[in-house]
Amino acid sequence: MKIFVDTANIEEIREAVSWGIVQGVTTNPTLVSKEGRPFKELVEEICSIVDGPISVEVTATDAEGMVEEGREIASWHPNIVLKIPMGIEGIKAVKRLSTEGIKTNVTLIFSPNQALLAAEAGATYASIFVGRLDDIGQDGMQVVAQALQIYRNYSFSTEIIVASVRHPMHILRAGEMGAPVVTAPFKVLEAMFKHPLTDIGLQRFLADWEKLKNLMK
Ligand code: E4P
Repeated sequence: MKIFVDTANIEEIREAVSWGIVQGVTTNPTLVSKEGRPFKELVEEICSIVDGPISVEVTATDAEGMVEEGREIASWHPNIVLKIPMGIEGIKAVKRLSTEGIKTNVTLIFSPNQALLAAEAGATYASIFVGRLDDIGQDGMQVVAQALQIYRNYSFSTEIIVASVRHPMHILRAGEMGAPVVTAPFKVLEAMFKHPLTDIGLQRFLADWEKLKNLMK
């Protein structure tokens, strides 16, 4: 499984990358606006930290505008993947950009059929927002399972990104299903490292080692 960090915060990205298990970054207009910095400068700094796919979202709302804006953003760095919102205009734009060899990540996917359309248009990634589905009482991971099955049936090369992750259980279920990519907030990734028995076990090992050191004095 590839693990991406879902943030535009430079400190979080630097820290997560230092762990050696994070292979990419996903951003969106909300995450970028939280940072209060010029867009291009922020994206270029992220690209200088992470040697992997960096998803950056377009804000135009028609296909023509998305393609134009997308070409400009993609020219900033070779690792940039254009995040394009699901919809007729978005899918038209993905088709054109993918034909030009520009990588895309179709965002705001909430159904297996939307995931199918993203793959048909040649998207590099399809982001399924599991947390937002859970929030309205639908099982987000069930949509991931259905989309994975469709992709396997037709050997699509588009990779599903499990996005809008809220807790480590989303990542566990993604792993059990064989989802190729998960993007998670910094805090959720940090939580994956933790287990109370690990802390208790380490304290005990260190205390016993201290006892031995005292005996050897
Ligand atoms: C995905 O790429 C999005 O940036 C993100 O996962 C959205 O998550 P949210 O539902 O927590 O805003």
